[in-house]
Amino acid sequence: METPKKVLVSRQFPEIGISLLEQAGFELTLWSKDRPMHPSELIDFALKHQALLCTLSERITKEFLKRCRHLEIISQFAVGYDNIDVAEATRLKIPIGFTPDVMSEATADIAFGLMIATARKMFFLHKTILKGEWGYFKPRANLGMELRGKTLGVFGLGRIGMKMARRCKDAYGMAVIYHNRQPNPAAEKFLNASWVSFEELLTRSDVVSVHSVLSPETCGLFNGETFQRMKPTAIFINTARGAIHNEPDLIEALSSQQIWGAGLDVTNPEPMAKDNPLLSMENVCVLPHVGSGTMEARNDMSRLAAENIIEFYKTGNLPHVVNPSVLEKEGQTKCRHQIFEG
Ligand code: GLV
Repeated sequence: METPKKVLVSRQFPEIGISLLEQAGFELTLWSKDRPMHPSELIDFALKHQALLCTLSERITKEFLKRCRHLEIISQFAVGYDNIDVAEATRLKIPIGFTPDVMSEATADIAFGLMIATARKMFFLHKTILKGEWGYFKPRANLGMELRGKTLGVFGLGRIGMKMARRCKDAYGMAVIYHNRQPNPAAEKFLNASWVSFEELLTRSDVVSVHSVLSPETCGLFNGETFQRMKPTAIFINTARGAIHNEPDLIEALSSQQIWGAGLDVTNPEPMAKDNPLLSMENVCVLPHVGSGTMEARNDMSRLAAENIIEFYKTGNLPHVVNPSVLEKEGQTKCRHQIFEG
């Protein structure tokens, strides 16, 4: 690289990606505080850089992009990118990188773990010990439910949903039904899964597990009306995005026993307030959005996010790109920064 490109690194990401970028000759600015940058700080810093390595805590809004349209690439350390106005970035021809696949196992483990923990009231029972309420053995108390032979309904059967379904099938022989906009023939072959309408997913599932993206179509889709159509014995699992469920409606559905339990790795808002009624319910298990939180997954995410930047400046392509249309060839050039520099 003749003049080193400047990369703003918005959080303390695992070292592996940082080292790769340094070895490739980039000049890095590392944000070292635990808190994310305020929107105005993000703009001020981004104005002095050509590339941004960021994550879900950064709001890459239309306003941000208007001020920072000079950015040549935004590389997101996450599989989801609902924090980014992709349409606007695409209009400005800014490629967006992301980190798919490498966190699917970790996130499916969290969905699977939350399902079991909820079915057996694990978080609530742990709290009784902390409160000194273990007491005597009570044969009729604190009974959970078994998962063997139950039906799993996956909402959004993609990379993570498939892995959750595999776990449920192998461990408990669960039947798998799913709802996607398009049927997924690979899933039908490997999981013997059947596509069902959204209505059927709600009424037939013993466990509904959400793995879809957050979009205008999915925002608030699990609400009072939809919870009402689920079985009173059903467990609702959400490891995708908190805004896909309506939280006051979920609280109401659980307190009025319209559904049996819920396991959440994502809440709305995040962080959840410590006096949220969900935290004191017996059949609810909540985690603080840690789906991708394994050393393996986070290292791989850091590597992929760095490789997206490195490859982009080397070849004009990103191995994992959200908006590939901005990389399409225009004459001999593949991307905007080459057009400017060429
Ligand atoms: C986590 O939620 C991610 O999108 O990577």
